[in-house]
Amino acid sequence: MEALFMSLFTQPLFFVFLSMILYFLVQVIFGKFRREAYELSGPPSHPLIGCLVSFYKNRFRLLDWYTELLADSATSTIVVSRLGARRTIVTANPENVEYMLKTNFNNFPKGKPFTEILGDFLGCGIFNVDGELWLTQRKLASHEFGTKSLREYIMNSLEEEVEKGLLPLMESLAMKGEVVDLQELLRRFAFNVICKVFLGVERCSLDPSLPVPQLARAFDTASEICAMRGAAPVFIIWKIKRWLGIGSEQKLKAAVEEVHVYVMNIIETRRQKLDHDQSSGTSIDKDQDLLTRLIMAGHEDEVTRDMVISFIMAGRDTTSAAMTWLFWLISRHQTVEEDLVKEIEDNQRTMDFESLDFRLLKACLFESMRLFPPVAWDSKHAKVHDLLPDGTHVRAGDRVTYFPYGMGRMESLWGKDRLEFKPDRWFLEPDKETRSELKKVCPYKLPIFQAGPRVCLGKEMAFTQMKYVMASILRRFEIRPVYSDEPVFVPRLTAHMAGGLKVLVRKRGTN
Ligand code: HEM
Repeated sequence: MEALFMSLFTQPLFFVFLSMILYFLVQVIFGKFRREAYELSGPPSHPLIGCLVSFYKNRFRLLDWYTELLADSATSTIVVSRLGARRTIVTANPENVEYMLKTNFNNFPKGKPFTEILGDFLGCGIFNVDGELWLTQRKLASHEFGTKSLREYIMNSLEEEVEKGLLPLMESLAMKGEVVDLQELLRRFAFNVICKVFLGVERCSLDPSLPVPQLARAFDTASEICAMRGAAPVFIIWKIKRWLGIGSEQKLKAAVEEVHVYVMNIIETRRQKLDHDQSSGTSIDKDQDLLTRLIMAGHEDEVTRDMVISFIMAGRDTTSAAMTWLFWLISRHQTVEEDLVKEIEDNQRTMDFESLDFRLLKACLFESMRLFPPVAWDSKHAKVHDLLPDGTHVRAGDRVTYFPYGMGRMESLWGKDRLEFKPDRWFLEPDKETRSELKKVCPYKLPIFQAGPRVCLGKEMAFTQMKYVMASILRRFEIRPVYSDEPVFVPRLTAHMAGGLKVLVRKRGTN
């Protein structure tokens, strides 16, 4: 027996086995030690599988689960490690957010794990690249967005869409007394404005009872499947499906091709028109859509294509999501609605965009996005080891997520009434009569538009659009949701209301 036992030590396989056990024990003991030493807080975890069990239990309520864990964490930061997934640090701590989005910006790019997911769709567009490629496009786009002519073009497009599309449709819905999905209507509105501003193409119907236009449908399919890639528990599966060209990956390929062909055709036609105008001596209108400006600036077709696709993607569903939630919230807060209508009526003469000085409306939009941010969470990937201001260690390759949804619901940041819709919290003096000045809230406390060098490029355009649309509707119509249940907030690439918002439209002032 003893001889048999001793002979075991001469077997190479036995040594391999023993080393594996030792390695496992070291991992468990030191992993636990490390966790206690500086990983501050997180879901209940076990050796090897990490928090897989609790993650699985909470998989349909990840937003609220993370928010609860963050509220319990002394530093408002948690570390989520689970088998099969990248180690993720989720933070609702403004100092950490500032550090990752500004102070040490270069160490927190979007990174390959993110850009791979959207790469087939967005190519090298601004939304999906880092480093030099990003910086060059950022400078170019910031310059264009800063020009008075593009701002005027945006405003004219918006006005046309409201006057010719939105208001006539609302009028007819009010006359017929039909139920309509307001979220879908606003999505189509935003898509029309975006297509006009970035591609220079004309409007499609806003009526949700008509089929979704071809380009919008292809966009929807592509972004849904990309979101599915991001949410897949095991990455390799979508890669295998892509390699084999089957299932959702086959659909994605077709949708991306549709978008690419559509945009390339527009580029080709526009280029021909510009060449023709130039050779025939016709003067070229410089106040045009972004695509025409990029062509005139001499950028390559593929660069132009990817850039406008990124813009459509970034600006498409965000404003409609924010407005949908606000319409629902004010339908539940009648006094806020009355005050808003009064503010809009008092400012009727200043409906000329530049001077859209609706302070209460702006406060309501902030408050609605605090509770229901269009981008619920957003992640970067650390290039090298780092240390966040609250003492959390970051390892190279870690995913670091800032979390607007959770931040908007932290008692430490917003007080005991954090879950209530209270637009007055955004005023310096929240007295009804003296709602004269909005507070300057630090962008890292509520990064709904991100913050730092990569802050949303369309923030100003978004506010102009949302204020103009909300004011145009509220002034003339009452929006009444058909169901009284609390809607469900669904975080995808852009968050939305599950099942849309079914409403009845009534002309204001009629019973
Ligand atoms: C309520 C409306 C909006 C919200 C809440 C919002 C929010 C955001 C957020 C959180 C990001 C960072 C995302 C990331 O890096 O992964 C972002 C980036 C961006 N947004 Fe917006 N956005 C809105 C509207 C718009 C509109 C209307 C446009 C179109 C002009 C736009 C254009 C962009 C672009 C181009 C970027 C990428 C900037 C860069 O990477 O340098 N956004 N936005």
